[in-house]
Amino acid sequence: MKTQVGIIGGGPSGLLLSQLLHRKGIDNIVLEKHSREYVLGRIRAGVLEHGFAALMREAGVAERMDREGEIHDGIFIAHDGLKERVDLKGLTGSSVIVYGQTELTRDLYEARDRLGGKVVHNAEDVRPHDLESANPYLTWRVGDERFRVDCDYVIGCDGYHGVSRRSIPKDRIREYERVYPFGWLGVLSRTKPVSPELIYARHERGFALCSLRSQTLSRYYIQVPLTDSVEDWSDEQFWEELKRRLPDEVADVLITGPSIEKSIAPLRSYVVEPMRYGRLFLAGDAAHIVPPTGARGLNSAASDIYYLYHALLDHYEKGDDSGLDRYSEKALARVWKGQRFSWWMTMLLHIFPDSSAYDRRLQQTDLAYLFSSQRALGSLAENYVGLPY
Ligand code: APR
Ligand code: PHB
Repeated sequence: MKTQVGIIGGGPSGLLLSQLLHRKGIDNIVLEKHSREYVLGRIRAGVLEHGFAALMREAGVAERMDREGEIHDGIFIAHDGLKERVDLKGLTGSSVIVYGQTELTRDLYEARDRLGGKVVHNAEDVRPHDLESANPYLTWRVGDERFRVDCDYVIGCDGYHGVSRRSIPKDRIREYERVYPFGWLGVLSRTKPVSPELIYARHERGFALCSLRSQTLSRYYIQVPLTDSVEDWSDEQFWEELKRRLPDEVADVLITGPSIEKSIAPLRSYVVEPMRYGRLFLAGDAAHIVPPTGARGLNSAASDIYYLYHALLDHYEKGDDSGLDRYSEKALARVWKGQRFSWWMTMLLHIFPDSSAYDRRLQQTDLAYLFSSQRALGSLAENYVGLPY
């Protein structure tokens, strides 16, 4: 088998790139380790910046997103008993779209099907070979059957635990990491969201977030110690703790219900440099992870795909490799800004187990400053809606 671009991983990054390339006549294949049901069973975040939405439109997969996604012109930050609004639209002229990553991934799979895209599911033991040569290839297995595809380029879109990054010799990369001493316990419930716009809350008992997927589906989170497990939290305990961390005006109107999903996610910041090794290019979670606080994860993946897509187009349509040669540098410049913003939001709103009284007063002062300065709010807003590509 031969193709132009071999893509490892059928999450949002791999599928979006595959779709964009296919529409420009660039042949590609996506190798996904799991079944489609498994990929679509994962509950992930759902705040899309305008650049991501534009890319979905360019890929011809934005119809449902534009119909069902909610445009949010602001977010709230709750602290010290107050609930204050960040007017994203007023401060930046832009908004975000709330549309679940699961739905977006479903739309991408359906679009790939419609165009007859090659997506292999249950691809076991995927391995990239000869990445430093001009003729790399991929091998994998489905059951007992073995396959090989020769390609011009290999794109690693296989997430943090994937094989792509691990195929790069250790002495050719540098990793940067920060692990936070807490996780997020998330609950999805078929209830009306407590607020039409997201509420990020800092409370002495810990961070909380009120988010949503639609007007009938709510997503809530609370900061918990890493030693906690889902079994430690009954629905009742979760709702009680969430309410304690929200201002009264919010807690009093919160509608609770049975959880339909409950999970704990650790928080991590991670970047690998460079994002290229020979003919392998890394994109999305395969190259970088952020804590979810700034809603950057999916959006940082999207800017990688934007740069890669244009770099590959320049290569195939104009014979111009400068985009590929500069990919890592360009992608990383934006990735690090997403890292900074996610780290800052995390530090601002979480209670660290070892924080001193001084640290906590500084957090409160940071919040008071934020809401006293249009410039400070503008900085938050422009990062939240997404810096330019
Ligand atoms: N071989 C083939 N596929 C693999 C392998 C492997 N060895 N390892 C992992 N995969 C697949 C996973 O099953 C998954 O479907 O790669 C896909 C990676 O998808 P994501 O983890 O969703 O990563 P990405 O597509 O970069 O999406 C960006 O944004 O909101 C964030 O973290 C969130 O997933 C999100 C990300
Ligand atoms: C979510 O809805 O899951 C969500 C929203 C915003 C975040 C993180 C998660 O910052």
